[in-house]
Amino acid sequence: MRAAPSLALVKYWGKRDARRNLPATPSLAVTVTGLQTEVRISETAGGDCLTVDGATVPAERHCRFFDAARAALGVTTRFRAEASNNFPAGAGLASSASLFAALAVGCGETAGMDSRGGARSVLSALARVGSASAARAVWGGFSVLEAGAEAASDAFPPDHWPDLRLLVAVTSRRRKPVSSRDAMNHVAATSSYYDAWVAAADGTYRSALKALRGRDLGRLGPLMRISYLRMFGTMLAADPPINYLRPQSLKVLEVLERLRDAGIDAWETMDAGPQVKIACLAPDVERIRGALLADTGLAPADLIETAPGPGPCVVG
Ligand code: DP6
Repeated sequence: MRAAPSLALVKYWGKRDARRNLPATPSLAVTVTGLQTEVRISETAGGDCLTVDGATVPAERHCRFFDAARAALGVTTRFRAEASNNFPAGAGLASSASLFAALAVGCGETAGMDSRGGARSVLSALARVGSASAARAVWGGFSVLEAGAEAASDAFPPDHWPDLRLLVAVTSRRRKPVSSRDAMNHVAATSSYYDAWVAAADGTYRSALKALRGRDLGRLGPLMRISYLRMFGTMLAADPPINYLRPQSLKVLEVLERLRDAGIDAWETMDAGPQVKIACLAPDVERIRGALLADTGLAPADLIETAPGPGPCVVG
């Protein structure tokens, strides 16, 4: 099974219910081409086991997911899953979204479930148990996960906006020091800005959804920016603070500001990590790439061009 990350244009950040992993804020995301997680799943006589890029994942990170998989699929199977990524994992590129989306759809397949139609919502709810962002990644194209929702739903298909591109600037390949989950829980417990973030999130989300429906990057871009910067604001106001911004990320942001001043729609978002994801239109990609290569110290291999892509699919 192969799945791609779900990059949030408007962020999920914080939990309404930590035990069930229900989001506190609504999110709007795009499942992209190019970045992939591949998972091989088999049944095992031993206990559940998950490896990612050859390393064993501790049971506490996956036991709830596999228990939920058995309950949702009505089986008693123990699962053995080996995952591999074609991009740096745990570095702020949404690898847990693609991992748990591939696992949910893959476990469904192993149990003989047809993942089309209504079953996809069941698999989205299952993926959420692993990672809430993964609930979105079981859908291709653009998807939404409402605050408090168990499953994500699809908003628009991948070809809704043929010209849209997401250029990913990989500013560091290191694993991030604090996971998204730990960071959002720490923020909710200690940041005086957290309640304000949650209160404002719905308005940003509804406006962004409208801008996306109208394929209006000039309106969507500022909403994407406000969403991630407010999310970063909650982290900077946490005690102790969390800061994922690196000097290289800031250099990218500076170049994008210059490009926008010159009339180019190049709007960034960031997640729990130093990478910058840039929403832009296909005819502008080369100009943006050129400016980033000239002025940030990034190499061509650090810039990955992606576009809205399909949901999880079986590998041939
Ligand atoms: C910043 O989905 O990784 O990428 O549900 O605890 O596994 P858990 O968190 P996760 O958090 C993603 C946070 C984000 C924003 C987003 O993808 O919406």
